Order: sequence, then structure tokens, then C-alpha cells
Amino acid sequence: MYRHVPLVKHPLPPTAPPADVSQALLFQPLVAGPLELRDRTWIPAMVPWRATPDGEVSERVIAWYRRFAVGRPAALVVEATGVRDVPSGPLLRIGHDRFVPGLERLAAAVREASGGATRLLIQLIDFLPLKRRPEPGRFFREFLRLTDDHRIALRRLGVTAEGDAARREALAALPRPALAEILTARELEALDLGARERITDPSAAALPRQLPELFGAAARRAEAAGFDGVELHMAHAYTLASFLSATNTRTDGYGGDLAGRLRLPLEVIHATRSAVTSRMAVAARILADECIRGGTDASESPSLAAALAPGLDVLSLSRGGKFDDAKQPKVGAALYPYTGRSGWECMPTVNGDARGPFGRNLEPARALRAALRAKGLGTPIVVAGGIATFEDAEHLLASGAADLVGSARQSLADPDWFEKLRRGHGSAIRRCTFTNYCEGLDQAHKAVTCKLWDRLPPDSLAPGRPGEVDDEGHRLVPPTWQPPGPA
Ligand SMILES: Cc1cc2nc3c(=O)[nH]c(=O)nc-3n(C[C@H](O)[C@H](O)[C@H](O)COP(=O)(O)O)c2cc1C
Repeated sequence: MYRHVPLVKHPLPPTAPPADVSQALLFQPLVAGPLELRDRTWIPAMVPWRATPDGEVSERVIAWYRRFAVGRPAALVVEATGVRDVPSGPLLRIGHDRFVPGLERLAAAVREASGGATRLLIQLIDFLPLKRRPEPGRFFREFLRLTDDHRIALRRLGVTAEGDAARREALAALPRPALAEILTARELEALDLGARERITDPSAAALPRQLPELFGAAARRAEAAGFDGVELHMAHAYTLASFLSATNTRTDGYGGDLAGRLRLPLEVIHATRSAVTSRMAVAARILADECIRGGTDASESPSLAAALAPGLDVLSLSRGGKFDDAKQPKVGAALYPYTGRSGWECMPTVNGDARGPFGRNLEPARALRAALRAKGLGTPIVVAGGIATFEDAEHLLASGAADLVGSARQSLADPDWFEKLRRGHGSAIRRCTFTNYCEGLDQAHKAVTCKLWDRLPPDSLAPGRPGEVDDEGHRLVPPTWQPPGPA
């Protein structure tokens, strides 16, 4: 977790929602392309680490989304789901038709649990290979590709090892300053952080030929499974975000200036649209600010948004969450893009800078949305990041920053929070404390839960509810809420 210096601890903002919210902006309907949204409530994608080891929908995945659907948000976005047919551990996948039946069961469960009130989207993601930080001895013995440059450099240092095995041992024994001279920057990075592929690597040359087709096919499967839409993941640390980024220096027409950086994301949008019927919504999530040095910031993101928006039914805004400033992981762990300052900006906690974690995305979002409207683009905008009270949600909408309120961690703490507001039980909301207990589990690749759930009576641990309890009997879904009223 990123620690600000000086560190300021922020209290949760006070809140006193009214009993009657029928006139509130948050509860007005909205039509976004084919999506008829009952109101302005939107639960953004959150990976809960519940898919099977093969990336299939499990009972736990279904229980998770069914529980969110009980709170009847207008829109619910299923976690980042891989578009390729490659093993990626217990992360949900959609890269082959064999994934469709599981996803179909998931969509049906959400429809049933929300009584048809919730529109269901699935976030489609591509990411490049990332290796765990290696144990140094193993790095030199097994992973480093020994080159003539290394052999010559060793000889220059007076190391007379005979044969590559001995040279590898010699490298492993060298002090850090000598290593810094012999290894390339990328080799040092692979040693210190774990090897990470980039869109500018020769191995990534074919991405523009591959990705439109992969995203299109994934969207077609999402439609076959009964989803209402897809959200193309163009945010945080992942492939399409890297194409949009000001740090994209590709020289093949898919990088450099704005037009080059937009080219592949636009081709992906086009391929996705072409793969689905007009009943499917096509949304995308981008960054209003990458929050890294040399990255796309709030001065440029409106231009990106204006170019992308004409092909989209909804544009969702996040910020930060990059590998570029992530902290060194422990040996055996993978680099996690939410550990640096940009990570804090993505999922800000109550331990932060003087400005604090709440509504941090409001200003850049307002500028971006105003730029779209000035160009006559009416694409509805979702904004997430520290929105967790009725008042902040209303302010977000009233200030012109957003058309839809994205609430991830507050909805994890209490998936009924929108429903409690709708029914005038705002004082019963279980409030997220913004300490990122959930994000810590995500970082450790463990099943995500909320520390607030376990303090409550285990009312949802009844038998016959598959997927709601882990092997030790801990709650895997939030407790149920019974609205007070005549029994
Ligand atoms: C456990 C966890 C998993 C997340 N997974 C995703 C994801 O799959 N895709 C994504 O775009 N954002 C993901 N996020 C980021 C959230 O969607 C959201 O942008 C962020 O938490 C800030 O919003 P909040 O302040 O309402 O929580 C995740 C957040 C958490 C806490």
C-alpha cells in the first residue's frame, strides 16, 4: 500500500440521506444506447478471485454476482475477463465458446436475483505476460538469457569462468554495482521486479492484428450468454490502456501521436460493434488521468475520450493503477499496479494526502465530460473513485462530472446500499471504511471479502446456498438485509 508523506488520516464524510429520494438525481432513469437504466447506480468491475483454476464460472462466482444483483443496481459490471484462450489462473475467461454456458448461468442468476432490474455488462480485458519476482539464484541459473554481451562483460571484469553454467554462477555471485554494469535495464528489472512484457516489445508487434478479433469474438460470446453489454477495459495497467498512454512510443502507426495511440482502441471498438447486434451495449473504461510521470493526464484525456465516445454507449472513468510506479514485490510475488501513488489514486484510502480520498476523480471527469458535450457528444459518463455517500453521489451528478455513479468498494461493503437509499433506510447502510482490506486480498490473489461482513451474525451461512461459504466456513458473500417492516 502506498504511504503518503506527510500522511493525513481522513474521517468518513458525514451523511444523512433523506427518507424520500424519489426526486434525487441518483434515482432518475437513463437510456444509454440499448441500455435502459432504472437509475444512475453503477457497480464497476471488481475481480473477486472466485473463478475455477481454468477461468470458468464457479458456484462462488454465481453466488457473488447474485448477491450484488439483490441490491438491484441499475448496472453491474462483471470483473475483468480475459479475451484470450490462455491459462491465467482463477481469473474469469471468455476466450473460447466453452466458457459460454457458465457465463450464461451467471447472467441468468443476475436477471433472476434483480427481478430484471439490473443491466449486466462484462468487462473484457487483455493483459501482457507478467512473471513473479524471481529468487535471484534461480534468475541467473534458469531465466536470464545469457548473451555474448554478458560473456564479454564478465571477461572484462576478470571473471574467467569456463562454460555458461559457471558464468551463470559467477553472475549470481557478483555485487550489485557490477551487475548494474553488466545487465541491461530490462534484465535488471526482471531480476528486481519480475519480467514484464510491454506493448513496445518485439513480441507485441502482432497485437494490432490480434486484438480486434479477440475482443470481437469475446463480445459475441457475451451476447450469446445473455449479457446486456460489454465494457472494454482500456484503463489501469492493461494492454489497451498502454496503447492509449502518452508513454506509448510504438513506431508502427499504433503509437506516438494521439491518432496513433487511438488507432488500436478504435479498431477494437469497431470490431466489437461489428460482432454484436444492436441489442448489446458497448462501453469502455478509460483513465481520466494516468497519474504517472510522462503519462496521459487530465489535459489530454478529454481528447482521447472525444475520439472514442462516438463508438460507445457508455464511457466509464477511472484513474491511475499503473505498473510504472508500483512497489517492488516480495520474491515469489508479482508486481501489483495498485501499490504506487497511481495505485492509491485508483483506489484511494483514508490514509492519504491533505486532499483526501473522496471524490478525487470529480474535477478531471467534469472537464472531460464538458469537453464531450461541447463537441455535441452525449455519451453517458460513469465516474468511480471514493463515492460512497448519497450526498457525494448527488454532488457528482449535480456538478456535471458524471451521468452515472460508479461505486465499487462501498458496494462491496454493502451491496444493498443503493436499495437502502431507495427505500429510505439510508441510516442502515454499512459504510466502507476505505482501508483497502479487499484490495489487500486482491493483491495476494485471494478470494476478496470485506472485513466489515465478518463482524455481523452469520445469517447467510445457512446450508443449501452453494458458493456462499469457503472451506473454513467463512462468508464469501455479504450478509443479507431484511428491510424493516411488518413481519
Ligand atoms: C477488489 C477489487 C477488484 C477490482 N477489480 C477491478 C477490475 O477487474 N476492473 C476494473 O476496471 N477495476 C477494478 N477495480 C477498481 C474499481 O472498479 C474502482 O475503480 C476502484 O475501486 C475505485 O472505486 P471505489 O472508490 O468506488 O472503490 C477493483 C477494485 C477492487 C477493490
